[in-house]
Amino acid sequence: KIVVLDLGSTYNQLITRVIRDLGVYSELYPHTVTAEEIRNMHAAGIVLSGGDTKMDANIDPEIFTLGLPVLGLGSSLEIMTQQFGGKTASMEAHGAASTLTAEGSSKLFAEISGSFAAHIGGTEKITELPEGFTATVKDEHGHIAAIENADKGLYGVQFHPEVDSTENGETILRTFLRTICNPTGEWTMESFIEAEVQKIREQVGERKVLCALSGGVDSSVVATLIHRAIGDQLTCIFVDHGLLRKGEVESVVDTFSTKFHMNFIKVDAAKRFLDKLAGVTNPEEKRKIIGNEFIRVFDEESAKLKGIDFLAQGTIYADIIESGTATAEVIKSHHNVGGLPEDMDFELIEPLKALFKDEVRNVGKELGLPEDIYNRQPFPGPGLGVRVLGEVTEEKLNIVRDADYILREEIALAGLDRSIWQYFAILPGIKSVGVRDGKRSYDHAIGLRAVHSSDGMSADWARIPWDVLEKISSRITAEVDHVNRVVYDITAKPPGTIEWE
Ligand code: XMP
Repeated sequence: KIVVLDLGSTYNQLITRVIRDLGVYSELYPHTVTAEEIRNMHAAGIVLSGGDTKMDANIDPEIFTLGLPVLGLGSSLEIMTQQFGGKTASMEAHGAASTLTAEGSSKLFAEISGSFAAHIGGTEKITELPEGFTATVKDEHGHIAAIENADKGLYGVQFHPEVDSTENGETILRTFLRTICNPTGEWTMESFIEAEVQKIREQVGERKVLCALSGGVDSSVVATLIHRAIGDQLTCIFVDHGLLRKGEVESVVDTFSTKFHMNFIKVDAAKRFLDKLAGVTNPEEKRKIIGNEFIRVFDEESAKLKGIDFLAQGTIYADIIESGTATAEVIKSHHNVGGLPEDMDFELIEPLKALFKDEVRNVGKELGLPEDIYNRQPFPGPGLGVRVLGEVTEEKLNIVRDADYILREEIALAGLDRSIWQYFAILPGIKSVGVRDGKRSYDHAIGLRAVHSSDGMSADWARIPWDVLEKISSRITAEVDHVNRVVYDITAKPPGTIEWE
């Protein structure tokens, strides 16, 4: 594998993912990891992600003497230069678009001929090369943009080959990975599945595993992967809390019970949840009630099963690296329904914890899950409970469900379903005056929300073509009872959030 050191660059996850996309397994580690620890990982190479130069200065200098190839990106060039006795001086051209030219003989740039465009990262320019290094790339002003000491396997580039705007970036990374690091094994989803199935079989033996299946991507993929490994030793509990979208319960039952023949327990708990939510209007309180009730139902059901040793969880890589660096203020308590208490008496199995979301989807596809499951858009754990604003009732749930279904149908028909991150209907609980069949009506308004985002942390509203919006609006007002008005939410996040509650 390739060890990526997180030096604070905004590209730290991107570089890790791009390396994997090139077929080499990579993992992101904090900059404080020691050379000794890396030695024990049997890594094939090291990448320094660049970023905060103050942090660069604190990496263990011994990592350069492990005999492993090192590629320093962006501002990591400066630390490599200083580390080996070269000199740098501050420069103003930080982040500038440059035209770079490879010169002389270089192992890293062996496949590159002519000039290429890239953005220079870092704030220092090299004024004196470190000993044993040669300059391999210069910009149009003659500044050094890459250095290498091929004998020691050390390479530094003052740009980011992992970003799209860097021409030839992929070729440069491929040369580093394939020619210079030359790791054994190919990282593909097939090889991942094969290895995990083996591991799960070894870990579980003849024992039994329980999985809380929500129908979301992560828990669906985890259940299917474990089922492939141990078949009927796996039992899945699916709590229908009555807050799912139209058609979802059926799709989950159809997939896991009918198609995959899993030991599948569906708990119809809709009435329990509705009873608990009656009269409650505060959003945080609603979330807590839904989360707690989920745990209670799951506890009751799992207590009926005997002899279970393991609990499978759909933890993915983002859950781990984000919780490691999270300093963000809690804006909403993101209670993940399916988030179970820590004191449960099970050993955990988390086979997806090294995977990025895209990889989880690919594993799902590879395992034969239907596309509407492996490509499902993000859906909040408390479900429609936070999309019916204020008090949740059966009638309101049905209205928002029907409107949401029409929105999803039309977005798919318009071919926009893969390009919009999330799209859904909200019932704000506002009634307004309208006319229907020549008569005055006083009915609900539906809010439509559709956003582009890459991680849910920030978002922009999607510019859905007006004729598509028009069709959605006229279908909702014509086909959904008690709706006489449709509005489109044109708020970015921030200042809005994606959900309304
Ligand atoms: P907000 O509304 O905070 O949402 O901008 C960001 C992303 O998180 C999803 N979301 C949730 N996911 N449990 C979840 O698992 C929750 O309670 C929850 N609340 C919001 C939301 O759909 C969006 O993708």
